[in-house]
Amino acid sequence: MPLARLIYVSTLSEKCDALALQDILTKSREHNEERNITGLLSHNSEYFLQCLEGSREELNNTYNHIINDSRHNNVTIIYYEEIHSRQFGDWSMGDVPQTHLTSLINLQFSGSDEFKPYDLTGKSAYLMLLELKQHLPSE
Ligand SMILES: Cc1cc2nc3c(=O)[nH]c(=O)nc-3n(C[C@H](O)[C@H](O)[C@H](O)COP(=O)(O)O)c2cc1C
Repeated sequence: MPLARLIYVSTLSEKCDALALQDILTKSREHNEERNITGLLSHNSEYFLQCLEGSREELNNTYNHIINDSRHNNVTIIYYEEIHSRQFGDWSMGDVPQTHLTSLINLQFSGSDEFKPYDLTGKSAYLMLLELKQHLPSE
């Protein structure tokens, strides 16, 4: 089964508080490790931006699971490609919260220094996530 990468954006629902966020990360890491899915999740109090990498089949299964989660809505795929190798292979799900440290990265890949992932092109989102991964230690 070919390897693929998928990036989507979504909007946090009112159910998504700090505790819910912790639960999302814990469950994601458990499930993704079992399915050999790797990736990165970036977020602020409004939006999620997530990259998932893995076999096309597992990627589809995982994404279909994620879109039905009531802790977010308006889930929109902005990037999909078949790939030869992973870029986020060190993380079953890396977590990069948006902080003032990431405002320069937003400026680098979008028209403002705010985190507005629906306004990103798919390619910009991918490049932004590559930049964000520099801020993370390996798991
Ligand atoms: C923004 C967001 C990202 C998520 N990412 C993943 C993920 O990468 N992998 C995963 O298995 N579940 C992910 N989830 C959680 C799933 O939607 C779902 O709640 C979970 O897999 C259900 O686990 P359970 O059946 O063991 O309760 C995510 C949820 C949200 C809201």
